[in-house]
Amino acid sequence: MTISARLEALLKATDSVCVLTGAGISAESGIPTFRGPEGLWARFKPEELASFDAFIRNPALVWEWYTYRKTVMHQAQPNPGHHALVRMERLVREFTLVTQNVDNLHARAGAAKVLELHGNIERSYCIECREFTSEIVLATPGQAPTCSACGGLLRPDVVWFGEVLPQLVLQEAFRASERCELFLTIGTSGLVYPAAGLPLRARECGAYVVEVNTEPTELSHRCSETLHGKAGEILPHLADMMSASRKEQPSS
Ligand code: OAD
Repeated sequence: MTISARLEALLKATDSVCVLTGAGISAESGIPTFRGPEGLWARFKPEELASFDAFIRNPALVWEWYTYRKTVMHQAQPNPGHHALVRMERLVREFTLVTQNVDNLHARAGAAKVLELHGNIERSYCIECREFTSEIVLATPGQAPTCSACGGLLRPDVVWFGEVLPQLVLQEAFRASERCELFLTIGTSGLVYPAAGLPLRARECGAYVVEVNTEPTELSHRCSETLHGKAGEILPHLADMMSASRKEQPSS
């Protein structure tokens, strides 16, 4: 891996970093990505499993799929990529972590704040009274869980196809992209908007945009620099370079 002099200088000195992560950062934790020959969308149909219409048609099937994914995600452990981002967060004064992932691995690695654009699979809420459950809900096959307060159907707190992203979270993510000096886009195919618009907006606003990915993506030619390889191997190097010239802030 070759790191440009510009990136090295930024890693050592910048006070303002924004990071966008996608499924690729969790691949090394054993969580399948969405696209590509091994991806979830090659084996399952999103229109049958990841939309509100699909849920209303067959809540038990959708819950069975989410129970399987929750189990996989809960058994997974954060990898060196997640941990490196926590180190960066403690080194940089203005650090924003935005994720498209619902797996909660950034928080489990110790990230103090995560802007979750697509929700979090560990949370569920009632579609009638909107009350969130406090525990992780796992469904029994053939049954969709219901709300203990009103009896309505519970759903996972994830953004499905056709649904609007949490607007305040999205606004905060765009604001951070617009003011950062260094933007890292990590393990995402850059095909799903509005998330994929964040690195583009950052570049328009003058940030140095660095992609970390095992493959070229739709975003590669629009980034300032691409680092080809696994997030779990590249990010610890970047965090080491950052820490060489700074003091880590104790986590609060
Ligand atoms: P994708 O599955 O589309 O892309 C994963 C990316 O990670 C690909 O570009 C891979 O090359 C890359 N990758 C794989 N392993 C990697 C590794 N070890 N290190 C670095 N990169 C690696 O996943 P996303 O871009 O996250 O939306 O997908 C975006 C959204 O599409 C998801 O949030 C989901 C999906 O439909 C919703 O559920 C709303």
